[in-house]
Amino acid sequence: MDHFLYIDGALCAEQVPVAEIAAQVGTPFYVYSAATLRRHYRLFDAALEGTRHLVCFAMKANPNLAVVKLLGDMGAGVDVVSAGEYLKARAAGVPGARIVFSGVGKTREEMRIALDGGIRQFNVESEPEMDALSDVAVALGKVAPVAVRVNPDVDARTHDKIATGKAENKFGIPISRAMDAYARAARLPGLEVVGIDVHIGSQLTELAPFEAAFCKLAELTRALRGAGHDIRRLDLGGGLGIPYRRANEAPPLPQEYGAMIRRLLGDLDCEIEIEPGRLIAGNAGIMVSRVIYVKEGADRRFLILDAAMNDLVRPAMYEAHHDIVPATEPAPGAEPLRYDIVGPICESGDTFARERDLPALAAGDLVAFRSAGAYGAAMASEYNSRPLIPEVMVAGDQFAVIRPRPSYDEMIGRDNIPAWL
Ligand code: LLP
Repeated sequence: MDHFLYIDGALCAEQVPVAEIAAQVGTPFYVYSAATLRRHYRLFDAALEGTRHLVCFAMKANPNLAVVKLLGDMGAGVDVVSAGEYLKARAAGVPGARIVFSGVGKTREEMRIALDGGIRQFNVESEPEMDALSDVAVALGKVAPVAVRVNPDVDARTHDKIATGKAENKFGIPISRAMDAYARAARLPGLEVVGIDVHIGSQLTELAPFEAAFCKLAELTRALRGAGHDIRRLDLGGGLGIPYRRANEAPPLPQEYGAMIRRLLGDLDCEIEIEPGRLIAGNAGIMVSRVIYVKEGADRRFLILDAAMNDLVRPAMYEAHHDIVPATEPAPGAEPLRYDIVGPICESGDTFARERDLPALAAGDLVAFRSAGAYGAAMASEYNSRPLIPEVMVAGDQFAVIRPRPSYDEMIGRDNIPAWL
């Protein structure tokens, strides 16, 4: 079920018309539905029912404190990839015992912060990282719980920039070297091996690559146990894709994904961790933008919006598709017009969509980018000195700004001009 629907002809976030939010916070902005976030978390939790498990929200998808708190309050864990994310998760009230620290290049300082504050597990990705973590832990008089991220050499069949499970990718330790890596980890005084970790990529639209990776994981679990390692947790990463086009066939549901996990790994008696980001937050958010101009080009019509690639970079960066819909429901049978939909930034890459059919729009009209709740605000920048756009959360008929738009003065005030200049 979708919480961004037309009610009496007006596009609403849950029960709040987006035009009402626009009137209060200005455009562009992101708006998230609390009900959708909750629903998506529950879907994963239910999909793993009957197993000991922890659903760790990959907060890189949407690191807003309010989003992380909403999920943390439901019992979610969090997957973090930097000290900044770790500290944000803690600030959102998530206990260290529910935080998993992933990432290929953790610094010693980041390790110290997490060990000091309390951490469920580090997912370590290389032998030098193991050595560093052991050193840091010993110096603090602690023992770091670790899972080793293995690279299973599986093709996730997704966009190249977000595939992470092939041998050529920088992630994990080659699975062929796993036995040696675990032997080394077991010898290090500051580490305690607790499990195995794998994450093969993002926006996967079929289960087969997961299945290939999880089969290798089951085999490795048995081999490692045979060698005396106490493998009690399996972290399966994130990656389950979402339908970006409403017209298309939807990717597998969390329920099918959960059934597959139970089928392949259920008999190992391990605690299962998963790290979904996109599926929890993606379709829980939209970005709303206003038409500045409609411009007739030589051979096409441009819809020039007040949002740009700095606000939502996915189309420019991954050729990603986002459905774009008007905030006012088109009249039945209204003749669509064909637009190239662009932002105001000074490069042609600032194009959200080409040859997109929309009802006739005029300057001042609002449009919404669907499926923008994951990797939207999270990846925004102030390129072209455009202040970061605000984020709003809706629950039922109420809404709140969960990150305000910085003023121009605030943005300018972040830079320093040296006294000697
Ligand atoms: N766990 C780890 C270790 C990850 O690296 C990621 C995502 C996740 C979990 C969550 O994956 P998800 O469930 O969201 O697919 N910016 C790109 C996506 C990058 C994903 C990076 N890692 C995009 O906009 O498509």
